[in-house]
Amino acid sequence: MQEQSYIPIAIEGIEPMAFPDVALYLKTGGNFVLYKSHGRDFSQLDADRLTSNKVEFLYVSPQDMDVINEYMEANVERFLKSEELTRTVKGKMIFQTSINFINDLFSNPKKTNDSDRIRRLIENLLTYLSGDVRTLSTLETVIAHNYHTFVHSLQVTALSIMIHSEAYMLKHDEMMDVGIGTLLHDFGKTFLPDEILNKTGRLTEEEIARFKRHPEEGYSYLKENTNLNDIALAIVRMHHERNNGNGYPRGIRGELIPRGAQVASACDFFCNMTMGRDGNKIMSPNICLHIMRHEMKGAFNEQILKALESIVCTDDTESNLPL
Ligand SMILES: [Fe+2]
Repeated sequence: MQEQSYIPIAIEGIEPMAFPDVALYLKTGGNFVLYKSHGRDFSQLDADRLTSNKVEFLYVSPQDMDVINEYMEANVERFLKSEELTRTVKGKMIFQTSINFINDLFSNPKKTNDSDRIRRLIENLLTYLSGDVRTLSTLETVIAHNYHTFVHSLQVTALSIMIHSEAYMLKHDEMMDVGIGTLLHDFGKTFLPDEILNKTGRLTEEEIARFKRHPEEGYSYLKENTNLNDIALAIVRMHHERNNGNGYPRGIRGELIPRGAQVASACDFFCNMTMGRDGNKIMSPNICLHIMRHEMKGAFNEQILKALESIVCTDDTESNLPL
């Protein structure tokens, strides 16, 4: 098996006796050797021994990632609230969970090289983020409040970074600002009651009005409590604005919406339509692009749509379009 086929799991995230029963591998000198086979418990003694040997990660096979993601989803909130785990460990868990989620985001085989690059960019982004305690704690708030909001934010961020690197020349620092703003774009949702956030039926008019306050509330909080700059803050505040003025909260249009927010707006819509909560695709990328371009005519910048199309659409599904 190739190195990239194994997925790292932070030792602190492998809870003795509670972690799913999967084979765990050790990386030694570039090779992967079986540490624990399926069927044997991972004990406290294992955890202690590995930690005292300064082993930071064990590795799992990609076939086991579904069950591990389920486990992380069920436990990440408890991990982040735990007082026994240090901030560094929590940062490492966020980092690793994030990487797991972007691994299989992009299914276009022509884009494999790109997804490696994006993976590295997100790694940079999270490393950068881990140096800023106040911003990192806001990301922890998002994860602990609603795991799906976090996964969605991560998907939007990965896609947004891809679009920026496909269509625009961005300096590294600006890319980091765009990444952090996009990662926290839905921060305002942490102020929404669960009844609204998790409602499966139609929202009432009152609930819709409450929901639509999340960009402004997120913006106000982050402006007050973090060092995010204007590029990042604009993304939080304007990620539901549309190029033709049909968005919210202010209904501003075109040039008044900074580019980072325009890209986030398109990526947010695209990810909501095409990626289900359980990771299943709910609408094909081509159909979604068709809707964005024709049924929502003018809502999104054409250059962004072109870049999005080149990233997410495969040639062979062209015939699926509802012409
Ligand atoms: Fe949003």
